[in-house]
Amino acid sequence: MQTLRFITCGSVDDGKSTLIGRLLYETKKVFEDQLTALAAESRVHGTQGERLDFALLVDGLAAEREQGITIDVAYRYFATEKRRFIVADTPGHEQYTRNMATAASTADVAILLIDARKGVLVQTRRHSRIARLLGVRHIVLAVNKMDLVDWSEARFKDIEADYARFAEPLGIQSITAIPIAAIDGTNIVERGHAEALWYKGPSLIEWLETIPVGDDQLAKPFAMPVQWVNRPNPDFRGFSGRLASGSVSIGDAVRVAPSGVGSHVRRIINGMADTNKAVAGQSVTLVLDDEIDVSRGDVFVGETQTITPADQFEANLVWMSDKPLQAGRAYIIQLHRISAGVTVSRIKYRVAINTEEHLAAETLALNEIGVVNLSLDRLVPYAAYDENRMLGGFILVDRITNETLAAGTIRHALKRTDNLHWQALDITKKARAALKHQKAFCLWLTGLSGSGKSTIANLVEKNLHAEGRHTYILDGDNIRQGLNRDLGFKESDRVENIRRVAEVAKLMVDAGLIVIVSFISPYREERDMARRLFEEGEFVEVFVDTPLDLCEQRDVKGLYAKARKGDLKNFTGIDSPYEPPHAPDIHIKTESMTAINSAEYIVEQLLPKA
Ligand code: ADX
Repeated sequence: MQTLRFITCGSVDDGKSTLIGRLLYETKKVFEDQLTALAAESRVHGTQGERLDFALLVDGLAAEREQGITIDVAYRYFATEKRRFIVADTPGHEQYTRNMATAASTADVAILLIDARKGVLVQTRRHSRIARLLGVRHIVLAVNKMDLVDWSEARFKDIEADYARFAEPLGIQSITAIPIAAIDGTNIVERGHAEALWYKGPSLIEWLETIPVGDDQLAKPFAMPVQWVNRPNPDFRGFSGRLASGSVSIGDAVRVAPSGVGSHVRRIINGMADTNKAVAGQSVTLVLDDEIDVSRGDVFVGETQTITPADQFEANLVWMSDKPLQAGRAYIIQLHRISAGVTVSRIKYRVAINTEEHLAAETLALNEIGVVNLSLDRLVPYAAYDENRMLGGFILVDRITNETLAAGTIRHALKRTDNLHWQALDITKKARAALKHQKAFCLWLTGLSGSGKSTIANLVEKNLHAEGRHTYILDGDNIRQGLNRDLGFKESDRVENIRRVAEVAKLMVDAGLIVIVSFISPYREERDMARRLFEEGEFVEVFVDTPLDLCEQRDVKGLYAKARKGDLKNFTGIDSPYEPPHAPDIHIKTESMTAINSAEYIVEQLLPKA
């Protein structure tokens, strides 16, 4: 029997719980364990198999879903004679779009609930876009609460036409509008309500039972990303994963991407048992004829298939965090079984939810949808999402908190880096530094404006210079008048400011210099990003720790006064954050140490390694 996976979405009060309750209630063949759990939850008394009280069932579902808000998506199972169904029940609140997106990524169909009294809302449009973006091909517009508009055919037709106008450019394969009243079950299973006789189409269940969901992943060529390498003993080496598409049989010639090395399938193990063939969606372990090099995240394909790995992509993104997207900031990407470092190198545009317009954007905020360029820190095997959901879908994760920040889909790889190669040069960093009788490194001073960074940097450089070291200072105020004169003080500008100066510092270290960077560099993530550009021991973070009130008292440049008056926006420490280092390599508390002593202290720490 076929299984149809669908999601329900819409605004908060459109009647999702009632609809799902109705589907479970009417179809009876609800999985028993789920019924029991629900019965316990809503304190419904009755023996198994007996019909639950409908109102209590709905209350139970709603309560469960509300509790589920913070966790995830509730999957509910039911079946009719014709099909099995898995419905992902997600909260409708705007801030929980992430759950809806998670659920949509595995669904074929979305039931979009509309309150007949309210019609098509922003949330309806947002959910339609997200569903389409994540591969949902069929939409049912369930126009609910028809009883409250006296089963007005005109009202129904208006909503249908309104939605069609919006959805036409989205390229959804099929859109079907069905007038329903979940509360009494009209047109959910049976039609024929006296007032709804004008409606001649299918009931919701009839539609769900008959919409073709020919498994198109099965018809596609074989691909299986490796989830783990299974080696319980020296005689057994298997590769486990879920088939993303196609099928594989014993004896098939396969190849592993990205290496391209080939072998033949000797065994296919499904659970505990051997089998001759596996198909899309199944999780299996493959044993090959030859010992070839395979690791997690590699992808098995058919012999004649090729997967060219890439590290630059154009992708769709649904932003799901309160913290807006910052181009240039380092995130983690999880793409099928791969985890890699990634930055958004460019935000091409943001999509206007209501009008489909492409808007210029410097960032994406919560629930916004856009198209971006991604730059990964290594080559990965992939497919465009339209070709293969498993190989082309990804999430972005915060490096520090592990929060899921965005869901995305690969549109295509960008070709531009294919022809760029890092040019290996004969004279090395070490050789350049040796000629100067030193070891090159980067001293990174961070702290509030007016904390004393520049003064200390200047004294450190004088001391090192006196010791015969070759140095250079990169100072925020100076660099901002040249290389970075196009940047202001918004978060995205500061991220780019630090990215550029870190790259310049890296080149100078490569040239054999001791580089002293003196930038506020307020964000931990960018300081960590800078550190990652350097080799172990080459990056020394110095926290010039001066309390805000002291900086403000000194106010050498008069900027704090301006900021307090509101004449200077986004000023660090006032209306823009400063994130102090958790574990700086050197911590200078300027309240208890003069600039001269601070500089001497730093140089003492540094000289042995310089
Ligand atoms: S950073 O935050 O992007 O690292 P950077 O060190 O380059 O800042 O520049 C900071 C200097 O710019 C300050 O010392 C101050 O002189 C000047 N400045 C002007 N506007 C601001 C502002 N809004 N916030 C902080 N510094 C500012």
